[in-house]
Amino acid sequence: MKLYIATDHAAFCIKEDVKKILTDLGNEVIDLGPQNDTRVDYPDFAHKLCNAVLAAEGSFGVLICGTGIGMSLAANKHQGIRAALCHDSYTAQMARQHNDANVLCFGQRVVGLGTIESICEAWSKYDFEGGRHATRVGKIEF
Ligand code: RB5
Repeated sequence: MKLYIATDHAAFCIKEDVKKILTDLGNEVIDLGPQNDTRVDYPDFAHKLCNAVLAAEGSFGVLICGTGIGMSLAANKHQGIRAALCHDSYTAQMARQHNDANVLCFGQRVVGLGTIESICEAWSKYDFEGGRHATRVGKIEF
């Protein structure tokens, strides 16, 4: 899976760890910043990543901030982006299988690295199931 990743300052400290987890799972990971922990505004990075995902068909994104909430709110403003705020492997699995989510969000202040690893495993492993879920996903956007 081709994956873009971006954080804000609150989650910069775990970006390299998450990149390694995702790369070790066989993903191609492209880092869209930031490159240090200077305070930034999370929507700037959410919008940058969503534009990259929308431009590269079939790609995915990972957005991390303190809680994951701000990133997911900003990402879901983009038509064609389905950003899912995940807290564990189950929510990550369902986000892929039922919601066809293309952007994974989580919070550095909410989940530890062990949980992040299981979230990334589920995200990388499961595909969209289609069928009745495709009908529902199709009704999300106007
Ligand atoms: C930054 O302090 C924090 O507000 C941000 O990382 C995020 O949690 C917003 O939703």
